[in-house]
Amino acid sequence: MKKKISIIGSGNVGATTALFITLSGIADAVLFDIAEGVPQGKALDLAEACPLCNSSSTIKGTNDYSDTEGSEIIIITAGFPRKPGMSRNDLLHSNADVIREASIAIAKTSPDAIVIVVTNPMDVMAQLTWKTTGFSCKRVMGMGGLLDTSRLTAFLAWELNVSPEDVEAIVLGGHGDEMVPLSRFITVKGIPVTELLSSKRIDSLIERTRKGGAEIIALLKSGSAYYAPAAATFKMVKSILLDEKRLLPCAAYLNGEYGIKDIYLGVPAILGKEGVEKIIEIKLSKEEKAQFRKSYASVRNLIKKLSI
Ligand code: NAI
Ligand code: 2OP
Repeated sequence: MKKKISIIGSGNVGATTALFITLSGIADAVLFDIAEGVPQGKALDLAEACPLCNSSSTIKGTNDYSDTEGSEIIIITAGFPRKPGMSRNDLLHSNADVIREASIAIAKTSPDAIVIVVTNPMDVMAQLTWKTTGFSCKRVMGMGGLLDTSRLTAFLAWELNVSPEDVEAIVLGGHGDEMVPLSRFITVKGIPVTELLSSKRIDSLIERTRKGGAEIIALLKSGSAYYAPAAATFKMVKSILLDEKRLLPCAAYLNGEYGIKDIYLGVPAILGKEGVEKIIEIKLSKEEKAQFRKSYASVRNLIKKLSI
């Protein structure tokens, strides 16, 4: 039998993540939602796609947390997405209620699971999940930095007309307007990007990355991005499930790293079968440090509002 991955929230991000998981065949999946019929209908549709893709994964849709019992990995995508003009932070209170409810349930049904939090404002929701489940901080993390990094990578690849496979970039800090894309670490097949693009052009691609989520919301008019978020979540899932030990940016609990304590924030981390196995500390310049502190202050401010 394959390992079980449960996805809480069967909306756009949840169902698309389930698509990546089931078609890859690396695990069986459970789609949970409070909306009756939605997870069942989407799971049935996904199950009917598996034979076409030679996947032997099974998928079940449910409104009952007992079906998620014994999950290896739980992905939380339940909650509300942004509407045009809203910031991720505007979702704070409504999504905190959803996260509390989900965390209490999964702590009972899957006490040994590794949890990936996607729901926004993601860094704060990861902190809330960690506190509410009582899980070790290694087993709770958030997805955001990998999506921001992928957006920046795509913009750079289009600009330079090279394969995205040859572009390396990294975005740290909170998954919000104060995210910290590190231009110093952008390379194209090892060549510093500053050799290939003017700093003005690099800055404008970084600015587009900061507003990457809002750009998609403005086009969609209702709902927010989900293909790239689901692909990023799947990459994290794969690294954990297959113990790949990929070095990926994610929201991890900082306990003194980067001079910050007791908070979830985006940093590069090695993800493997234990969850967040190691946080990699990069020596930041004065300016990068200031940006990182600003992002920290923004997340900290939201955490205070929730009194967690
Ligand atoms: P969506 O509206 O398509 O799906 C959300 C689902 O959650 C709905 O099916 C809804 O019925 C369900 N839900 C609501 N309350 C629930 C509860 N108490 N228990 C279980 N399910 C519940 O939204 P979408 O696009 O899937 O986004 C989900 C969340 O992910 C949003 O908060 C969004 O902002 C966030 N997001 C975060 C990203 C990141 O990089 N961290 C990227 C993209 C989205
Ligand atoms: C995004 O960046 C909404 O956080 C989500 O697309």
